[in-house]
Amino acid sequence: MSVTSVVGLQWGDEAKGKIVDFLTDSHEVVVRYQGGNNAGHTVKFDGQTYKLSLLPTGILRPGVTAVIGNGLVVNPDALLKEMKSLTDRGVRVDGGNLLVSDRAHVILPYHIIEDAVFEKRRGDNAIGTTGRGIGTCYRDKAGRSHAIRVGDLYHRETFRAKLAEIVAFKNLTLKSLDPSITPLDADAIYEAYVAFAEKLAPHVVDTTAWLHKALKQKKNVLFEGAQGSLLDVDHGTFPFVTSSNSSAAGIHSGSGVPQRAITRMIGVVKAYTTRVGGGPFPTELNDEIGQHIRDVGHEYGTVTGRPRRCGWFDAVATAYGARVCGVDQIAVMLLDVLAQLDELNICEAYDIRGERTTDFPSHVEDLEVAKPIFRKIPGWKKDITGARKLSDLPAGARQYVDTVSELLEVPAKFISIGPDREQTILL
Ligand code: IMP
Repeated sequence: MSVTSVVGLQWGDEAKGKIVDFLTDSHEVVVRYQGGNNAGHTVKFDGQTYKLSLLPTGILRPGVTAVIGNGLVVNPDALLKEMKSLTDRGVRVDGGNLLVSDRAHVILPYHIIEDAVFEKRRGDNAIGTTGRGIGTCYRDKAGRSHAIRVGDLYHRETFRAKLAEIVAFKNLTLKSLDPSITPLDADAIYEAYVAFAEKLAPHVVDTTAWLHKALKQKKNVLFEGAQGSLLDVDHGTFPFVTSSNSSAAGIHSGSGVPQRAITRMIGVVKAYTTRVGGGPFPTELNDEIGQHIRDVGHEYGTVTGRPRRCGWFDAVATAYGARVCGVDQIAVMLLDVLAQLDELNICEAYDIRGERTTDFPSHVEDLEVAKPIFRKIPGWKKDITGARKLSDLPAGARQYVDTVSELLEVPAKFISIGPDREQTILL
């Protein structure tokens, strides 16, 4: 039996979707455990490109059950639209292959408004959120009194009463923060969400109980992380993070499956670094090399279309992500994007106020002043998208992967050199 976790070790967008898709052949269940429709996965399957946001990647494979675990924040409108976009293209999505936890929290219209209002008030310190109401929904989850879970939508009378109370409160606070905001109508939200709940009813179950039965039946289960470890609310570059445990730390809390059930922990790393939104980024390249990486790697957000910030591979930050997650192997993605550069840099340590360190700072102000200390690797200047085995790679590309693996102290098991499934070297 295999219980596998695929988790990003950087600031998200590590191309986890490709590795998840690659592994779904050998897994019957694919579980998401955190985040919401802030995530974006691009998967090429059967010659078609699918962009998924809230749905687990496994939904595309016949025979796979996709699970939206309790740790997610679910926008039911966005979920139904995404489901329809797949059924319109002939992909099966029904109560038999998509399960939604009744414990997951619900994103309501006021969460999206609050997300925008809070970001605006942060001014220069804006987090650069995706604007999907993710953080504000998690905030209500932690605060408890204003939280609605998926299961609550099926207890109509208490849902109506609770919603009326919450909306009255939100109208009060939103009005005082921004008088131009039109007050929300609790009855209209109630009607809309009851309709969403009816459509979602065949999917809603206690996914924790379901997953434990699946494990008992020795089903192979794959946990699909969204975002990346450095955006984890506890372990990431706080406060420039997302509001969930987007490292492997979220698996236990966000699915109800204990960490010790996991037999294989795969960390996914991009061969360089990207970041969307605000926050420190020691190896960022604000020059033509950064732009080259952005252009060749198509580094524009799947969800928001924002250009991603690009930089050299940061082994200090990524090794920290690997340690927090406890990965036993890594997948090195998008190596082909670096093929045309003359010389490559890998950050092996930071200089923080004159001191060399390989520890990742816990305070954002220390990370802001961290200067990368680079190890230089000669470029290989050769297209590698046709490589299918390690020996097909030029020596420089092999040296690059070996260096990443050495600095992370984790063996590389996959090297990705293009978007297609076949463009993957297994080690
Ligand atoms: P939020 O998750 O919308 O609250 O955004 C918080 C931070 O996480 C922002 O910097 C976002 O750009 C970043 N973020 C959220 N989801 C993703 C993702 O899927 N990939 C990369 N960055 C993300």
